[in-house]
Amino acid sequence: MLLSVLLLLLVGHAKAGYKGAVFTYSTKDVQGKRFSVMHRYKLSYSSYEELELRCTSCSNTEESRGEWCLGEFAWKWKNVNCGSYDGLNTGNWIHNRNGISTSLAQMFVEVRNRSDINKPNSSPQTRVLPVVRVPSNCPRNISLLTFDPDGDEVKCRYASSSSECDTCTPPSVFSLSSSGTLSFSPTDSSSEGPYAVQLMIEDFPRETMMLMQNNGSTSLRNTNSAISKIPVQFVFKVDPAAPSCTEGEYLPRFLSPTPEHGAQIFIDVNQTLEIPIRAEATQSVITELLFSGPVNVVKNSSGSGHFTLRWTPSGDENDESHPICFVVQANVSSSVYQSVHQCVVVTVGNRPTVTSTTVVAPTIPLTTSNPPPRTSYLTVLKLKISTTLSLKDNHEIILKTIKDELIRRGLHPDIKVYLRSDGSVEVKKTAAP
Ligand SMILES: *[C@@H]1O[C@H](CO)[C@@H](O)[C@H](O)[C@H]1NC(C)=O
Ligand SMILES: *[C@@H]1O[C@H](CO)[C@@H](O)[C@H](O)[C@H]1NC(C)=O
Ligand SMILES: *[C@@H]1O[C@H](CO)[C@@H](O)[C@H](O)[C@H]1NC(C)=O
Ligand SMILES: *[C@@H]1O[C@H](CO)[C@@H](O)[C@H](O)[C@H]1NC(C)=O
Ligand SMILES: *[C@@H]1O[C@H](CO)[C@@H](O)[C@H](O)[C@H]1NC(C)=O
Ligand SMILES: *[C@@H]1O[C@H](CO)[C@@H](O)[C@H](O)[C@H]1NC(C)=O
Repeated sequence: MLLSVLLLLLVGHAKAGYKGAVFTYSTKDVQGKRFSVMHRYKLSYSSYEELELRCTSCSNTEESRGEWCLGEFAWKWKNVNCGSYDGLNTGNWIHNRNGISTSLAQMFVEVRNRSDINKPNSSPQTRVLPVVRVPSNCPRNISLLTFDPDGDEVKCRYASSSSECDTCTPPSVFSLSSSGTLSFSPTDSSSEGPYAVQLMIEDFPRETMMLMQNNGSTSLRNTNSAISKIPVQFVFKVDPAAPSCTEGEYLPRFLSPTPEHGAQIFIDVNQTLEIPIRAEATQSVITELLFSGPVNVVKNSSGSGHFTLRWTPSGDENDESHPICFVVQANVSSSVYQSVHQCVVVTVGNRPTVTSTTVVAPTIPLTTSNPPPRTSYLTVLKLKISTTLSLKDNHEIILKTIKDELIRRGLHPDIKVYLRSDGSVEVKKTAAP
């Protein structure tokens, strides 16, 4: 048997305060046949009491009115070299309009060696806020930020089988695209209320490849067969109609220098990253910044819609890209309004590339005292690639190597890379589809 089922069962109990989870894993510290697997679990509940049943000393954040708390815990496992399910008994969902009671969150972890990348797989990566809100009269697209550390194709779908959900009814109020965009169209007050969203995100190889077990047995995967799959669950809340859907009035609007959705930021271990976030709302009062990010991201507020997220990555986060997602929330009496849901990707650390003599110089992190000149993010990455190939004869190969490395570090596969005559490299993102 290739699959072993690993279920971490915890004491069941009757409270119904589950508000979602995101599980991911990444393969690390690969040395020859040895490697470790970092598992990360994000869990959200209505109360700390329920969260603490699952993780006693996990790092957490909360919504100030007590709507939710969100905890993350991580652990590193040694080489198992097989595929396995990794799940938690997450408890019962909060009351929701699609009638889901028992929750189930399981990730399929595949860590057999891949013939295409010569190392075990890492899962797709993403994060999402526990509760995403939109007024019933306002159209909105929520685009989940997803990417894959191995450059695989990432697809999103509703959970649909008994290993993925107990009750699988998807919310009726939005449509989901395989790229992970939830499109909400205005509806009437009869649709208001919370919906339980249960998604699975999978990675697919771009070419047929083999999974190889230590004992020599192999298994073929083509571009239609998922390698791993992760659960992404949260609450989608349709609120009473807002007096206006224009961003910046009741719904907070992000202002410069807030990084745009999908912005890439590079930083090294032990360096401190500061992400400035600014928002305005003329007809409501901005109350807080809500976020979901790696353990130890801290937020600070200096009033009137000015916020900072600060993070100093540690060795455990090295060689990985980490999403950080945020919304700004505002209110007027009992009405609560959220900005759009935005995420950035922070890539941590040095990684030897191409040959063993490669040197990756420190990158310039973003700081509040040094804001980027435009709304798009300027990222400086110094990368030294040593090769015996000549630039004149092997232009294409060198370009492809640089491009592959940038994609491996989290840039979108659609980037275009140009080698300029002064030796510098220009990277352009092709127009969004
Ligand atoms: C390798 O191990 C797997 C899982 O334990 C088993 O199913 C398979 O038959 C083994 N293959 C060989 C060639 O021993
Ligand atoms: C994966 O396979 C490659 C090529 O066969 C080998 O060099 C590498 O050590 C293997 N890695 C692991 C973790 O088994
Ligand atoms: C959502 O996306 C669709 C398809 O790209 C687009 O037609 C629509 O205008 C978008 N809606 C909003 C509110 O951005
Ligand atoms: C980061 O800081 C820790 C604690 O001071 C230290 O042990 C570690 O070596 C540092 N790592 C790097 C890559 O600088
Ligand atoms: C957080 O913001 C407050 C208010 O502006 C400021 O006094 C404080 O120094 C900030 N804290 C940090 C760690 O920057
Ligand atoms: C926003 O909500 C808080 C907490 O419920 C409340 O104290 C505050 O008065 C509200 N703000 C407005 C402008 O209504």
